[in-house]
Amino acid sequence: MSRLAGKVAIVTGTSPNIGGGIAQGLADEGARVVCVDLAEDNARQCADWIAKRGGTSLGIACDVTDEGQVEAMVARVRDAYGGVDILVNNAGILGGLSVLEMPLDRWSRQVAVNLTGTFLCTKHVARLMVAQGRGGSIIVIISTAGHQGQAGNIAYSTTKSGLLNFTRAAAMDLVKHGIRVNSLTPTATDPEEGIERGVAWGRPRPEPRARGLDFVKMLPMGKLPSPRHYARACVFLASDDAEMITGADLRVDAGAIAKYWPWVPHS
Ligand SMILES: NC(=O)c1ccc[n+]([C@@H]2O[C@H](COP(=O)([O-])OP(=O)(O)OC[C@H]3O[C@@H](n4cnc5c(N)ncnc54)[C@H](O)[C@@H]3O)[C@@H](O)[C@H]2O)c1
Repeated sequence: MSRLAGKVAIVTGTSPNIGGGIAQGLADEGARVVCVDLAEDNARQCADWIAKRGGTSLGIACDVTDEGQVEAMVARVRDAYGGVDILVNNAGILGGLSVLEMPLDRWSRQVAVNLTGTFLCTKHVARLMVAQGRGGSIIVIISTAGHQGQAGNIAYSTTKSGLLNFTRAAAMDLVKHGIRVNSLTPTATDPEEGIERGVAWGRPRPEPRARGLDFVKMLPMGKLPSPRHYARACVFLASDDAEMITGADLRVDAGAIAKYWPWVPHS
């Protein structure tokens, strides 16, 4: 299947985990994919991996909080591929501290990457889409932490919640240009696929890490989603199959947010 043949996609934050999975999934559907990351090796290795699988890809190192770098990145994509059809705002800083402990500089950086980075990429990619006059699809990656009050994660929860309404407001700004803006909500993610992708990129397998919470017990579906599940949802939102969908949030969370909170489905 090539549901995105002829399309050009930009994905930010292409570590081997979720961004790498989304980039791979879009490329598998025929899109030419630009892998954008602050870490040069995440941009380059993701692009190399897509090329190795038979796709067309470009890696660009870019700090999404720096407007000059974002403008230069979008100009490079225009020069290389003639335009852009899809943007996935996935770059983010996870984790954090409680409101009592959070230092201002750490709060400010997380707000800058998660919120301002998404704003800057959306602004400059949408300007190019408007100039092209052929519409487009912009996707914003949220988290279940953006729908609920998570203890010990003040900046992350706040920024992800802010992105839900950023998505709706940007969708209204861009609707007259045929540009759809939607969000996708992942939840705690099975680490195995990301680890395997990292190994395929030539990285060492990390030591297994214990998780503080028993996610599987609490999830209605009884298993965690993997990056490929988010990738499939991105392909749908990016494709013409979603032509009448804008300003929406698509939760790929195994039922987490729909659940009646005191119910423990797998005790
Ligand atoms: N892992 C999860 O369980 C989970 C759950 C819900 C939502 N999410 C969301 O999915 C997205 C990806 O998560 P992940 O687990 O793959 O994280 P990750 O840390 O593996 O990847 C994030 C990437 O963003 C990049 N990045 C950070 N700052 C940047 C900047 N200033 N400019 C450009 N790139 C920058 C990092 O270098 C990294 O490659 C994030 O938005 C995260 O909030 C993750």
